[in-house]
Amino acid sequence: MAFTKKTVRDIDVDGKKVLMRVDFNVPLKDGVVTDDTRVRAAIPTIQYLKEHNAGIILMSHLGRPKGDGAEPALTLKPAADKLAELTGYDVKFVADTYGDEAAEACAAVKPGDILVLENVRFLKAEKKNDPEVAKKFASYADIFVLDAFGTAHRAQGSVVGAAEFIPAVAGFLLEKEVDTLTGIFADPERPFVAVVGGSKVSSKIGVLENLIESANTLIIGGGMAYTFFLAKGYSVGKSLQEPDWIERAGEMLKKAEEKGCQILLPVDNIVADHFGEDAEGVVVASDSIPDDMMGMDIGPETEKLYCDAVKAAKTVFWNGPMGVFEIEQFAHGTQAVAEAIADSDCTSIIGGGDSVAAINKFGLADKMSWISTGGGASMELVEGKALPGVEALLDA
Ligand code: 3PG
Repeated sequence: MAFTKKTVRDIDVDGKKVLMRVDFNVPLKDGVVTDDTRVRAAIPTIQYLKEHNAGIILMSHLGRPKGDGAEPALTLKPAADKLAELTGYDVKFVADTYGDEAAEACAAVKPGDILVLENVRFLKAEKKNDPEVAKKFASYADIFVLDAFGTAHRAQGSVVGAAEFIPAVAGFLLEKEVDTLTGIFADPERPFVAVVGGSKVSSKIGVLENLIESANTLIIGGGMAYTFFLAKGYSVGKSLQEPDWIERAGEMLKKAEEKGCQILLPVDNIVADHFGEDAEGVVVASDSIPDDMMGMDIGPETEKLYCDAVKAAKTVFWNGPMGVFEIEQFAHGTQAVAEAIADSDCTSIIGGGDSVAAINKFGLADKMSWISTGGGASMELVEGKALPGVEALLDA
């Protein structure tokens, strides 16, 4: 699907100052970035701007600070250092975002410079999208670039604010993410198989309903499968379940049938009598889950069924694990499906969150066509929602 907003390619950045919102919300341990995926993902746009003689001011949030001032554990300095390390560029950092120090540092930015501002969420004004903040950000630069796909669903000051006052365009990451994730609805190569797991039907209802409209097959795994079992009249014992969503799950099964989308539910399951590292799994059929047991993973027959469906696909979208993959003995189903996707020639698109953690755990990241850098943002896009950050950009 063609991206409908202007990008950095469509605007003259030569000699201009660019304020670029990135998503450097990265995991840290003892002040060191432990997963630099999001920093790496921002580099193509940063490189482009630098090569086109722009002065670059980067801003991001990190974590969820209270908003009452600086919290040393959530400073963006480690992310700035990581960017310097990965690119070899001289990256300056200023421990301020809204004050005189930040304004002075931005004023001093020359073409080719890179400056990282402090965590935008150290003040509440960011989350409230206070117009004063928007004006302040806009005063730092000539052009605004949004490349923070992971945060594009947040209508916050640094995401949408500056766009009201200075020309605002997309970076390459944002463009690619939106193109890829909306492309599965526009024109996927078929068969298109969607794999959705995770614990709750309620948290992915929009995603499931939208995928039914587009996918040829929708594979369901993880805790949410048990609410579907209840809709089919099975007992689920002590498994995760959402009684308030049984009716909706049943309606979804009916709708899928009408739309010609095949829904695959587990035919067998690994169940255990309690949740924990020491829990022992046994295989039971989906219509025979004992009252004192809970589902922990898909069973071996289901694994085969799901892997065969994935292998036959030309496009696969995956979001959410098939079982409790964090516990070794219940990781098999998730790993088998991940490996089937990795081994196939299909276009494989991985929505953010737990599925990315699973893919990294199994060392399969290099074998996927696209792994989204957004969790909530990728889900909202797949639900069919417009992302406020994208909406605020100039139309192409
Ligand atoms: C994310 O990690 O999903 C993004 O950085 C957004 O973070 P938030 O949920 O704290 O807004």
